[in-house]
Amino acid sequence: MTTDSESAKEPSIEVCFGPECSDCGGRELAQELQALGMKTFEGDCRDQCPNAPLVLVDNRMITDASLEKVQARITALRATSPLKQD
Ligand code: FES
Repeated sequence: MTTDSESAKEPSIEVCFGPECSDCGGRELAQELQALGMKTFEGDCRDQCPNAPLVLVDNRMITDASLEKVQARITALRATSPLKQD
């Protein structure tokens, strides 16, 4: 979990590594995000298994997550807050 001051610098990206999300590409999605220089961390199942994979950006859920959805969420956050620009 991050504090408000931490999330103002860089979004927190949690990728569910539970069994359903792993089967639906969650771990590969984490690797793709990391390859783009984003820091991710492993999360636990949040009971969103039917909508796997699950990613949380600053604790807000993205169901049926994809690289494009996560990037869009981060772009939207950066447009509305002083997130770190790379
Ligand atoms: S395994 Fe990811 S939400 Fe349940």
